[in-house]
Amino acid sequence: MIRCLAIVVVVVSVGTARADPDADRGKQALFTRAFVPAPWTFSGYENVWKIWQPPLKEKPADYDAAFRERYGLHPAPYENGRLPMGLREGRLLFAKGITTDCLLCHGGAIFGKSYPGLGNSSLDIHALFSEMGKASTGSGRLPFTFSNVRGTTEAGAFAVYLWSFREPDLSITFKRHDFGLRDDLCEDTPAWWHLKKKKTMYHTGTADARSVRSIMQFMLTPDNSREVFEKTEPVFADIQAYILSLEAPKYPLAVDRALADKGERLFHRHCSQCHGSYGPQWSYPNKIVPIEIIGTDPTRLVGLSRALGEHYNRSWFAKEKGDGYLAMEPKGYQAPPLDGVWATAPYFHNGSVPTLYDVLNSQTRPKIFTRSFQTHREDYDEVKVGWKVKVLERGADANLSDFERRKIYDTTQPGRGNGGHTFGDRLTEEERRAVVEYLKTL
Ligand code: HEC
Ligand code: HEC
Repeated sequence: MIRCLAIVVVVVSVGTARADPDADRGKQALFTRAFVPAPWTFSGYENVWKIWQPPLKEKPADYDAAFRERYGLHPAPYENGRLPMGLREGRLLFAKGITTDCLLCHGGAIFGKSYPGLGNSSLDIHALFSEMGKASTGSGRLPFTFSNVRGTTEAGAFAVYLWSFREPDLSITFKRHDFGLRDDLCEDTPAWWHLKKKKTMYHTGTADARSVRSIMQFMLTPDNSREVFEKTEPVFADIQAYILSLEAPKYPLAVDRALADKGERLFHRHCSQCHGSYGPQWSYPNKIVPIEIIGTDPTRLVGLSRALGEHYNRSWFAKEKGDGYLAMEPKGYQAPPLDGVWATAPYFHNGSVPTLYDVLNSQTRPKIFTRSFQTHREDYDEVKVGWKVKVLERGADANLSDFERRKIYDTTQPGRGNGGHTFGDRLTEEERRAVVEYLKTL
């Protein structure tokens, strides 16, 4: 046996110039680094099943899978020990613990396969934080509702809450700012592969899509100082480069080409002015559609206060690149690109519509419904394209546990309205089928 001696050449970088943002480095950072301290312990992970309701007699045999299913998490498609995508090992003082990362919300699965960049439409973030908190430290109390419905989050409330402890220079304030914290915005997580087409981002298109600092807001937990933000900014420039490199997954089942071609012509007539065109010569108009025209639920649009926007605009976050990337006045919802739209159900900014067919027929949208929150082929509606749902006659009973209640999407509740976007109503049934067929190909 000949042993090879690997000669490791250590390249010492000289000077301070920072290399251009790099997608591979960003991917590496996203899959290996923790950016917020660990709130939970490994023993919390091992023992949290003891507080699950209804109670279990013994620890489930395939515990990691049972844990993922409980909270709507997916296997990590990269080395992550036993932890699912979205959780990772982190540090709290000198001990090892478990923390969360971007992929908690931005890592989803479709047909049972995990995709970083796909919004996680299975997640019960409220149960995860309250139960892991309780199992780790004894307290599962949360300062606000992290989600009212499984598969959606109150991401906006996280930002509002974290900002309320910060001055514009990012120092911590003990006199908490009141930015009007509310937890009924009910947000569906957008797919990351759309960012490369966008000039403005977020559902309301109020942020410049080039902003690196804007996507660092989840690091505003009190333990991260301004120095940490400054030091980490280049890492987030790399993460942004990775996000910009992502492509939508292709529809894996058969497509009726002739029907899809017909749908494409209809799409150009009825939809392209807002959603753009696709294929090699694609275009995307970056249109923010006024609320009077789009008519979808207005809660998210009006739910983040002007005071917060002004505070943000005075802060380090807005001072990126010259005049900075200022938060803009919300006017409506941005018509998103539709690449990979077959994989991103449920639809609209609040996830209130489970299938593409129902997006195009406002009369058939289910009012109160539940679903499996699994992502296998049997959970997927291949005809209406999106998630299979079970329609319910009425909302949650008063005696239902919160965990079960969050499995019910009730469109009569605040932030969860499923009205508006009636552009498909004028199509005939056959035309609607053709447009849905075309949407599969994007
Ligand atoms: C709690 C869930 C959650 C976490 C964690 C999270 N995001 Fe998001 N993200 C969202 C939601 C929801 C939106 C849409 C927000 C809106 O419009 O109000 C969003 C929007 C975005 C967008 C804009 C997408 C678009 O097309 O408009 C980017 C980019 C982004 N997040 C990056 C990140 C990065 C990077 C991290 C990790 C540092 C992260 N997010 C962590 C939920 C989350
Ligand atoms: C006047 C502009 C406009 C027209 C015309 C329009 N849309 Fe939209 N569409 C939007 C906006 C804005 C949204 C986001 C609404 C929200 O999230 O509240 C949207 C959302 C969607 C979504 C959900 C996307 C997601 O990821 O949640 C789909 C699918 C869609 N539109 C398809 C179509 C199709 C197909 C047509 C043509 C029949 C069409 N739209 C016509 C503006 C438009």
